[in-house]
Amino acid sequence: MRIFSGIQPTGRKHLGNYIGAISQYVAGQDRGDGVYCIVDLHAITVEFDPAELRERTYDTAAILLAAGLDPRRCILFRQSDVFEHTELAWLLSSVTSYGDLQRMHQFKEKSGAQRKLVSAGLFFYPVLMAADVLAYRANEVPVGDDQRQHVELMRDVALRFNAYFGEHLVVPEARIPAVGARIMDLQNPETKMSTTGASEEGTLYVLDEPALIERKLKRAVTDSGEGIHRSPQKPGITNLIDILAAVRGVEPEAIERDFAQLRYGDLKAALAAEVTAYLAPTRERYAQLRPDVAGLQATLADGAQRARAIAAGTLADVRDAMGVGPPR
Ligand code: TYM
Repeated sequence: MRIFSGIQPTGRKHLGNYIGAISQYVAGQDRGDGVYCIVDLHAITVEFDPAELRERTYDTAAILLAAGLDPRRCILFRQSDVFEHTELAWLLSSVTSYGDLQRMHQFKEKSGAQRKLVSAGLFFYPVLMAADVLAYRANEVPVGDDQRQHVELMRDVALRFNAYFGEHLVVPEARIPAVGARIMDLQNPETKMSTTGASEEGTLYVLDEPALIERKLKRAVTDSGEGIHRSPQKPGITNLIDILAAVRGVEPEAIERDFAQLRYGDLKAALAAEVTAYLAPTRERYAQLRPDVAGLQATLADGAQRARAIAAGTLADVRDAMGVGPPR
């Protein structure tokens, strides 16, 4: 079974990325062949700084390695190192519906937030994402809830390709965690925690110092009334319960039971201690790994070579099936 996922090298990685996606990548190494991609070409669809893009790519590589990705057990690479992604995106555009792209929530949200330019790349983003996954004939795509619609689109693209040109692509399934697929902003629990848009105080970064983690969690917005249980009327407490459940690896019901007789302050104290302990090993390993840029670069280059060996095979089949280029 092959697992593929991608993560943008933008901004600082937060607890939502960690719980919703990164921890699943690490677990995926034990369940199948994991292929994990730092999607720098997706990051250029909104305003960006070229020098920073490269640095953020190394930051992201170091975070993923620190979190437990092991290049001996998975493939970790940078998207732009494997040209097959961009070629496949173009080839797949012929079986992607324009109307479907217009319906993408992420495009609507992100295009609304752009000040200078809404790039065509932002609109085309889901096609490149489809190419990322389909190039590896991946079966499973671990993502947070916000990527559900993009995975649906890539399934449609694969099905249409196979119907038009023959069974060459694998139709992938999203793997969205039962708990923690949508971690919310701590200050504004009606919106998801995110690198852009959300509040600094409400966003818990993977590399935050323990004192800062504690402060952000203690100041997290809670709801009026007592009672530690999940409900749509209590988005703040619901989010905190979900975070603790994800960190402990238990069902949210278990947290509700454990804290049934306790107060909000007790929940926050437990969170501060346990989230700090949860992120500490990654933060410590990151500090060791990040300075070694040559080492990170070598890991990405090796990953790209191994990724390309797979993607090139798919591209040869796709070109041939579509009648593009000389016959094989
Ligand atoms: P990106 O970089 O925005 O986010 C990386 C992963 O983190 C998840 N995530 C969250 N999970 C839970 N709660 C949150 N608040 C939260 N915020 C983010 C995202 O769902 C994602 O899994 N388009 C993708 C990158 C991508 C990709 C791919 C993913 C490019 N090609 C191919 C899978 C397969 C993105 O922007 O992720």
